[in-house]
Amino acid sequence: MCGIIGYIGNKPALNIALDGLKRLEYRGYDSSGILVLDNKNSENGGKYNVFKSVGKIKNLETEIADSVVAGTIAIGHTRWATHGKPSINNSHPHSDCKKNIWIAHNGIIENYKTLKKHLEEQGHRFFSETDSEVLAHLIEEFFSHNENLEESVRLALKLVKGTYGLAVVSVKEPDKIIVARSGSPLVLGVGQNENFVASDVSAILNYTKKVVYLDDNEIAVISGSDFTIKDLNNEPRKKEIQLIEWTIEESQKKGFPHFMLKEIFEQPESIENSLRGRLIVEDGLAKLGGLENVTEELRNIERIIIVGCGTAAYAGRVGEYMLEEYAGIPVEVEIGSEFRYRKPIIDKKTAVLAISQSGETADTLEALREAKRKGALTLGIVNVVGSTIARETVAGVYNHAGPEIGVASTKALTSQLSVLALLTLFLGRQRNMSLTMGKRIAEELKEIPQKIKIILKQNGTIKKIAKKYKNSKNFLYLGRKYNYSIALEGALKLKEISYIHAEGYSAGEMKHGPIALIDKNFPSLFIAPRDSVYEKIMNGMEEIKARGGKIIAIATRGDKKIARLADDVIYIPKTLEMLTPILSVIPLQLFAYYMGVSKGIDVDKPRNLAKSVTVE
Ligand code: AGP
Ligand code: GLU
Repeated sequence: MCGIIGYIGNKPALNIALDGLKRLEYRGYDSSGILVLDNKNSENGGKYNVFKSVGKIKNLETEIADSVVAGTIAIGHTRWATHGKPSINNSHPHSDCKKNIWIAHNGIIENYKTLKKHLEEQGHRFFSETDSEVLAHLIEEFFSHNENLEESVRLALKLVKGTYGLAVVSVKEPDKIIVARSGSPLVLGVGQNENFVASDVSAILNYTKKVVYLDDNEIAVISGSDFTIKDLNNEPRKKEIQLIEWTIEESQKKGFPHFMLKEIFEQPESIENSLRGRLIVEDGLAKLGGLENVTEELRNIERIIIVGCGTAAYAGRVGEYMLEEYAGIPVEVEIGSEFRYRKPIIDKKTAVLAISQSGETADTLEALREAKRKGALTLGIVNVVGSTIARETVAGVYNHAGPEIGVASTKALTSQLSVLALLTLFLGRQRNMSLTMGKRIAEELKEIPQKIKIILKQNGTIKKIAKKYKNSKNFLYLGRKYNYSIALEGALKLKEISYIHAEGYSAGEMKHGPIALIDKNFPSLFIAPRDSVYEKIMNGMEEIKARGGKIIAIATRGDKKIARLADDVIYIPKTLEMLTPILSVIPLQLFAYYMGVSKGIDVDKPRNLAKSVTVE
């Protein structure tokens, strides 16, 4: 995820672009850049200026300082890196070989390696490690034959696989911005003798409230006075101008009251992004480019130790069950802060896998360094590209879940679980997993985003249930097998953002102690999908019921039996047992969210917490 801004009109464009980028900063801030082009009719027609800097937009502002640039066309980008570390060279806008064509891109070009190889053979020179840069050279290649920017963009996009929100300008045609969308959002802003483009309306609301949302596979050509929209086959598309009534704040959160809720609702999309280009359903395989250089070493690994903290460690526990059951590799999970201070047994046949959203958590990082010292193969599942953990591991898989702003981890967790399922497929198929089983997992995994959408439709019901329990002082979260870890995660979410004491426990262990706590004021939340431990979970539910405890249950759609025992039920669709955690955690995120909101807590920034804990 990143932010794109574009301006074309009669005012100096640099500050308008900078202002837009500041409003888009929440979408990522690995680096940023602005390209300003002088209008065709100006004295310097066809000249350009480019500014780039690493890190937050304020660094770009310092870089620009008092520069006076007259140009009235600009494209800008704030980057959330997916391919290539955050650096000046990898900052957008990117150019072609001759620095004539400039592009800002949001998304992932899946087939960039093939395209890049082909373009290099044609003599193109690349300046960055990004996937995006191929777009500039591909457009250049077509332009060298047809000298028509719009046509070249269209032809280039026909060769591209993946997702894009794209803005293109050229010194050869300095009277237009060409934009296109497939999978990454773009909106046009319609002004008086000026037009805008942006990844979301918050970037342009200060200038105009009139917008046109681009749909997938549309290309728009924008000039200062008008715009045209066509599809990839050059057929015109008729679009309505809409009037925006949101404030800038509201629009950054896409109309949601909190980033956390926006991120919960983004999960169908963030999981799609984590799976993009990585699942080969017909062969029951996972293609993980980040593990290519260690494929052979992985074949010989005899043990995996997963390290992480908080939610990431809970993802790891689900991973342990997946990997042991389907890949047949012994796995242990350890929280980062423990690993380093005892004497773990590690040898060359041990892989240590760090899971971290931020890639900066000190406890996880130090555990990883300790493992490295002892000769383990170090791997990572990390969301933030170029972060310390990503850099210090030998190989790994990026989540591509987009920036997570809410302190409580939501979309990062479901992405971690999806990547762990991919890893299970990858390692399992290297070993004993059959083609049939591989296909089954791949097929079910592909369906997950759709199934999450079904759960999200129960938002209203979950809100009502939360209201009912908002005065409870304690909660017990119970689950077994794959959902044991989700009980821990659900309890953590509730503690973090509603300040209600909650304990996560194995449903089987409950009778060995915690059951003493139960009375009519101590509710329990059971995660009880129709899986291999369903009957056992039901026993636990009977035991609580017999002691007058209230019960909320997460159950599989169509389970009538549970409705007779539980006071409130939230249903999830059926899936493969190992994938149920990705579904069962969604109602728990929403439940915690509404509990927090009902108590008036700032759920995006709960007290005493930090998004990334960089101290031990
Ligand atoms: C989750 O809601 C927490 N805020 C926290 O437990 C978090 O998961 C943990 O600090 C690990 O962070 P990381 O994934 O960035 O390493
Ligand atoms: N894939 C591109 C990159 O890594 C764009 C990422 C984004 O959407 O921010 O630079």
